[in-house]
Order: sequence, then structure tokens, then C-alpha cells
Amino acid sequence: MSKEAIADRIKPLAKVYVAGEQQADAGNAGSSGPRSGEDVYGSFCVNCHGSGVLGAPKKGSEEAWKPRLAQGIDTLLTHAWNGYNAMPPKGTCGDCSKDEIKSAIEFMTKGL
Ligand code: HEC
Repeated sequence: MSKEAIADRIKPLAKVYVAGEQQADAGNAGSSGPRSGEDVYGSFCVNCHGSGVLGAPKKGSEEAWKPRLAQGIDTLLTHAWNGYNAMPPKGTCGDCSKDEIKSAIEFMTKGL
């Protein structure tokens, strides 16, 4: 059994464990490394950007994202980081780094 297969099997458990760990270890930089855009999206952004709640641009919707992408990734990242109208700061991922938020934006707009 490969490491990946094991990691995959215990994923939901591991996530809960890691979140608790980080709090217990606060200040110890005990992070397990940056999460992928897909992970961040799947844990946080999907709650609004999956269905378009509150007018959130839906993942993969060219119509919704095109005018926003035209502002440039830096502006999108600033808006996602600071909040923008009904878009909450960091998209509710309070412990996300800027890189993680950026990856999540890239995941939502992949191929557009
Ligand atoms: C509580 C709902 C909610 C969650 C959770 C959420 N968003 Fe949003 N998001 C919105 C809404 C609503 C808008 C549209 C805001 C507007 O244009 O007025 C938006 C817009 C955006 C935009 C476009 C900003 C612009 O300049 O046009 C980006 C980028 C974005 N969200 C990224 C994210 C990321 C990344 C996450 C997850 C880490 C996330 N959002 C989570 C509601 C949400």
C-alpha cells in the first residue's frame, strides 16, 4: 500500500487532526505546508462559489469570471484577501496564506 493511498484513506480524519494540531502548536509553525487550490476551494470557497450564492461568481463560469479576470489576478487577490461586498475576507479561510487564496482563485478560474 503506497503512502498516497494511505493518506487518501485517512484524509477526512487527518484534516480534523491537523486543524486541532495547528491550534495546539500555535507559534510552532507546525503547518503541513500549503494546501492546494482544490483543497481550499473544496473546504471554503465552494460554499458560495459552487452554487453562486449571494451573487458569487460560480466556479468555471466564463460569463461570471471574464469581467473579473480582466481586472488582473492581483486585484482579484486583493479583493479576496480583504473582502469585497458580500465576499468575506479570505473567503472565510481564516488561516489561509495569500498563496493558498491565490491557488484557490486559480482553481476556480482554471481554463477561463
Ligand atoms: C460567504 C460566501 C463566499 C465565500 C465562502 C467565498 N466567496 Fe468569493 N465571493 C463571494 C461573493 C458574493 C462575491 C461577489 C462579490 C461582488 O462582486 O460583489 C465573491 C467574489 C469573489 C472574487 C472576485 C472579486 C472581484 O474582484 O471581482 C474572488 C476572486 C473570490 N470571491 C475568491 C474567493 C475565494 C478564493 C474563496 C475561498 C477561499 C471565496 N471567494 C469564498 C462570496 C463568497
